[in-house]
Formats: sequence, C-alpha cells, structure tokens
Amino acid sequence: MYAVMLRELESLVAGEDNAVGVLANAAALIYHSTGYFWVGFYMVRDGMLRLGPFQGPVACYRIGFGKGVCGTAWERASAVIVPDVEKFPGHIACSSLSRSEIVVPLFNGPEVAGVLDIDSKDVGAFDETDRDALQKACTILSAAIF
Ligand code: SME
Repeated sequence: MYAVMLRELESLVAGEDNAVGVLANAAALIYHSTGYFWVGFYMVRDGMLRLGPFQGPVACYRIGFGKGVCGTAWERASAVIVPDVEKFPGHIACSSLSRSEIVVPLFNGPEVAGVLDIDSKDVGAFDETDRDALQKACTILSAAIF
C-alpha cells in the first residue's frame, strides 16, 4: 500500500510549488490510502505549530514546542510513535476517538518546519513500516514545497 502511495505522491507533487495545495492533496492521498482516522499537517509559524491542511474531524489550531505528541516530535526533530495515547503524558486530545498516533517531522534544511500527524482509532496501529514510509513521504513533500 505504501509503495503505491509514495509513487502517487511523487506524481501528485511533480511541478507544483503551491505549498497549501500540495499539503492538502498529500493529506487526502494519505487519508484515503491508509484509512486512518485523522491525517494532517501542523506547520511552524511564529514559534508555534499551526494547523495546516488535514482530513478528518476538526482539530486544535496551535501546539507549542515540546507540547503533545506533535510538539515532542518537533523538539526531538524525529518521528514519535505513541501506541496508546492515554499513556503518553501531555497528549493533546483533539478527539476522544483517537487511540494511537504517529508524528513525523518535515524538514526545511536542518530545521523542523512542520509535522505530519496521523491518528488511529485503534491502539498500537503504527509501527516502523508506517514510520519509514511516512518519512519518505515527508522527504518528497519537503523537496516540493521548500
Ligand atoms: N494529538 C496531537 C494533537 C493534534 S490532533 O491529534 C489532530 C498531539 O498530542 O500533539
């Protein structure tokens, strides 16, 4: 599934430099390819992660550095997998239906410029296969929009 999705992402972003459009189409592609509950982007602006394009239920607008799973991935500048959100101190519950989560940073050069955040309704939904594929997706996106 991810091999097909990454090929589709490559062709989807080719020749397009409109960041909002690229991220919106990426969220739609990942959401419909994976079937996960929430798929979207938070982008760094004015020292905060600010809600970007997404698919799924409405979500919070701002996340601070080191806050929640997203802010933790930003602080660590690396992917974070949370198998059970109820066991992650500081998890920000945008929806009570979310049970596990993966967050992968988007880099602009050496700097974290945003994150890809994916939530599942199932505990333990994410593993290294998800992380590796989503990191590749973020590399494709970074090359397109930065
Ligand atoms: N749960 C995230 C917040 C964003 S929502 O999942 C869409 C977090 O703890 O950072």
